[in-house]
Amino acid sequence: MKTQSIARLGASLTLTTLTALAAIGFAQDAATKGSDAESDRYTAKEPSRDGTGKVYFGREIAHVMGHRALGWLERPEREREELPDEVVKNMELKPTDRVADIGAGSGYFSFRMAAKVPEGKVYAVDIQPEMLDYIRDKKTETGVTNIETVQGEIHDTKLPEGRIDAALMVDAYHEFSHPWEMMHSIVKGLRPGGRVILLEYRGEDPTVAIKPLHKMTVKQVTKEMAAVGLKLKEIRDFLPSQHFFVFEKPAEEKP
Ligand SMILES: C[S@@+](CC[C@H](N)C(=O)[O-])C[C@H]1O[C@@H](n2cnc3c(N)ncnc32)[C@H](O)[C@@H]1O
Repeated sequence: MKTQSIARLGASLTLTTLTALAAIGFAQDAATKGSDAESDRYTAKEPSRDGTGKVYFGREIAHVMGHRALGWLERPEREREELPDEVVKNMELKPTDRVADIGAGSGYFSFRMAAKVPEGKVYAVDIQPEMLDYIRDKKTETGVTNIETVQGEIHDTKLPEGRIDAALMVDAYHEFSHPWEMMHSIVKGLRPGGRVILLEYRGEDPTVAIKPLHKMTVKQVTKEMAAVGLKLKEIRDFLPSQHFFVFEKPAEEKP
């Protein structure tokens, strides 16, 4: 699908439509559930309406948003709701940085980051080839050359090891079917001292009108990030409805 038609589609999508599309989900989502439920890391429950029934640290994992809801990610009102330019400004990127957009979707953040790292690079990682096709089409249309699309797997980012300065996840982590494995893969891709910037809708805030499985609390996020050895550096409070977390990969200890 081309950029313009996607933009038009986005304008016509409602939250109800999104929910329906998310429920259609992504086939891999359900296909891999059974085997994990047997492991110690994950448990299984009766799936709730928007959930997979797979539980990690007491949190039920949400369904993956199917690529047919791509227009939702490009909706014009998102600029007001999620302040994407402010988000990228707050990442404090250097022109030479190598950045990863994990669960990049339409590349809504990848293209904004690419403009800030002219001598660096953005790795746009997603598991859905249709999302990556859309990003590649948009690269051609816009002439942006410093974005590399990466076909990830549900438990592996496929990023190069130890080379990433910062990894961004926006509205994506809560739907990773293998959060522990994904975070390990992200940490492996980061250089020592590299950062994880994580955005999720505020789970503690009842005024945020998002379905519970698509929101996360500070307590839950910090618990899950600590489990993979990430240190909480700060939480910035400038977004209307989301938390902005900064975590850091500890520098290697000298022997
Ligand atoms: C709700 S969309 C958000 C997209 C984008 N971050 C944004 O804010 O516009 C979540 C994206 O995460 C992707 N995703 C889900 N699980 C993933 C995984 N294990 N690895 C990479 N991407 C994943 C989905 O395919 C989807 O494109």
